Amino acid sequence: MNKDDISAVGAVRRLSQPKKRARQAAKSRIEEKKTTMKAAAIDKFGPPSVLKLHMLPMPKPGPGEVLIALRAAGIGVWDGDIRGGWWPQGRPKFPLVLGSDGAGIVVTKGVRVRRFREGDRVWAYEFINPKGGFYAEYAAVDAEHVGRLPRRLDFLHAGASAVTGLTALQGIDDHLRVRKGETVLIFGASGAVGTLAVQFAKRRGAKVLGTASGSEATKLVRRLGATGVFDPRSKNAVEQLKALAPGGINAVLALAGGNMLERCIDLVRPGGRVAHPNGVEPEPKQRKNVRVLAYDAAAGRRESERLDRAVEEARLRVPIAAIYPLAQAAKAHQRLEKGHVLGRIVLEIK
Ligand SMILES: NC(=O)c1ccc[n+]([C@@H]2O[C@H](COP(=O)([O-])OP(=O)(O)OC[C@H]3O[C@@H](n4cnc5c(N)ncnc54)[C@H](OP(=O)(O)O)[C@@H]3O)[C@@H](O)[C@H]2O)c1
Repeated sequence: MNKDDISAVGAVRRLSQPKKRARQAAKSRIEEKKTTMKAAAIDKFGPPSVLKLHMLPMPKPGPGEVLIALRAAGIGVWDGDIRGGWWPQGRPKFPLVLGSDGAGIVVTKGVRVRRFREGDRVWAYEFINPKGGFYAEYAAVDAEHVGRLPRRLDFLHAGASAVTGLTALQGIDDHLRVRKGETVLIFGASGAVGTLAVQFAKRRGAKVLGTASGSEATKLVRRLGATGVFDPRSKNAVEQLKALAPGGINAVLALAGGNMLERCIDLVRPGGRVAHPNGVEPEPKQRKNVRVLAYDAAAGRRESERLDRAVEEARLRVPIAAIYPLAQAAKAHQRLEKGHVLGRIVLEIK
């Protein structure tokens, strides 16, 4: 990854609004007539090779939904779990289109939707969407889970940060309530959520410490605003953290679990806080004098407006580790399986 990959500003060619609308309306009419679309889906659980390009029926938006012509979809570590056989409830319907977030353009909307118009540039997060995931040309999504694209993000960077942005922001602002002058540790700072959490904590005026393995990851986490970075896999990791935070730590956002995390949490001051999104394993242990809580990223109108503001305040940079075309979703998952992804992997959909 080179330095430019973390630049979040897409070179957006601006057309005048009326011209844009007219062009989009014509495009929407064509798209509305389409009955099938390309999607990367699985017919059974298994290794990355089960992900194949399918022609599937276009999803139809219900009264409170919008149909989005997707330009980018994020690839999450949980997508790999689902592909491999993890499913939260009941039985999935195959072919199953993976993907829980992405960015694109509103093509049509249900009768109850007032907030969006055809042609709006949006991003969205919907976990286990019954109408199909985001590894597709189109997705029908509850309009409440859709937000306008922040001005500073293009489709690829927005597609790479919809759910991870919500997770990072809500971890820092809502669950840890990070305040100015506090010392915050982002455990797992070089990953998809961590790279964004570092920036959101920095924007609160905190002293941000992060974990990262290897020189490239370390440089990245520093560049994003961490004052101190240490390798959680090194023998003297705890000593390094003690030196970086001689007065102790106020809050920890845990994006990976295990023995080293527990040893870092030992340095949290009494009354301190630890938060982790569900999915982090092993889960951090409960403790006396330190509040440990688990959370899920929440999607909603208010949440996406807050994220939009935070993106601007933090001048958010979204690191993209790799971009794959939709047809190569299986390759993207092979890369995911290798691990050590700096930022997020994203699918480009044309
Ligand atoms: N419930 C929700 O709403 C929600 C939403 C988003 C994410 N999540 C969960 O949050 C977690 C983080 O997500 P993510 O997308 O940021 O994952 P990710 O991109 O894989 O990042 C994980 C980070 O943790 C580090 N790490 C992994 N194993 C480690 C270990 N044993 N010791 C120290 N560091 C380790 C990684 O560093 P290396 O690359 O060096 O290993 C990386 O920096 C996942 O469990 C995911 O399922 C939950």
